[in-house]
Amino acid sequence: MSRAERKIDHIHYALSTGQSRRTGLDDIQFVHRSLPGSSVMDISLSTEIGGLQWSSPFFVNAMTGGGGQATADINAQLAEVAAVCDIPMAVGSQMSALRHPEERLTFQAARKANPRGMLLANIGSEATVDEARAVCDMIEADGLQIHLNVIQELAMPEGDRDFRGAIDRIAEICGRVEVPVIVKETGFGISRETAQLLNELPLAAIDTAGFGGTNFAEVENERSAQPMSFFNNWGIPTAVSIVETVFGAPDKRVIASGGLQHAEDVVKSLALGASAAGLSGFLLNILLTEGQEALTEHINQMKTDMQMMMCALGAKSIGQLHRAPLMIFGRTEQWLRIRGLE
Ligand code: FNR
Repeated sequence: MSRAERKIDHIHYALSTGQSRRTGLDDIQFVHRSLPGSSVMDISLSTEIGGLQWSSPFFVNAMTGGGGQATADINAQLAEVAAVCDIPMAVGSQMSALRHPEERLTFQAARKANPRGMLLANIGSEATVDEARAVCDMIEADGLQIHLNVIQELAMPEGDRDFRGAIDRIAEICGRVEVPVIVKETGFGISRETAQLLNELPLAAIDTAGFGGTNFAEVENERSAQPMSFFNNWGIPTAVSIVETVFGAPDKRVIASGGLQHAEDVVKSLALGASAAGLSGFLLNILLTEGQEALTEHINQMKTDMQMMMCALGAKSIGQLHRAPLMIFGRTEQWLRIRGLE
């Protein structure tokens, strides 16, 4: 299978395996306030990551590029929607475009479609400083995501088997690129222990990308002749991963992601301590099944719904939302209690 075919395969399987909605966010419930003292007009959705001001606290998280014209079109369409809705967007991993220059256009399509928007570059933790700089230059990036994808690599027959030295390479990149750096998981969640290691680095944010949404173990197992089914239920659910990361990296901004679909998921994630939230598979599914207009409508509806919920909670800003009283039930409560994360 060619590289381009593999990228398309990933999209196909990511959408067909779907999202399990086992994020743990259903275990979270807000404590209602009858006298919130707020007005919808006063609610600000703005947030700040690595010195960058975002008018909205959610964004299109990393997905694609490198798979020929089809992925260039997806990046252009996502970027057009991101421009209209004024939300940031990350492109998919640009690693292979470094070795295959003809792939660059598939990522640059996003910048072309949104010349002034906030765009994040994306590489793996195997990248060197020069590679990190090159992917940023490729799309005139405003920030850089470094993804961690141990489980996907292990589940791929042709994937990496050696994960030594990643933290040192990330540390080196942080000091030597000009844009803020975000480390992200890819659907298995950041733990407190991982967050503690990352807390020592000059990162702009840690993106939890927890379990419960797109599941790359399932995606690879569907494609593989030797499936590693033991990885299908691996991972830290999104709700707990946010708390694990907030505890482990108190000095860092936390970005929530993994299975987020609607405003309620985002508001709960922010109330758990995140400063922003990323959505991938759910948005791609809307784009590919219903088109750009439907995706724009969904994103705009999310913003309105967030303002309604924040008004009800008496939270004028994301900072105030962090202090909204909430209840945590079920497996999520059990996990946090056993891990001493209360
Ligand atoms: C991804 N994701 C991803 N992440 C990354 O850092 N680099 C990448 O190249 C990709 N590629 C990719 C392709 C497709 C088709 C999907 C759906 C996702 C992972 C993504 O950014 C996110 O971490 C996970 O998908 C979990 O979030 P969702 O999809 O449950 O919202």
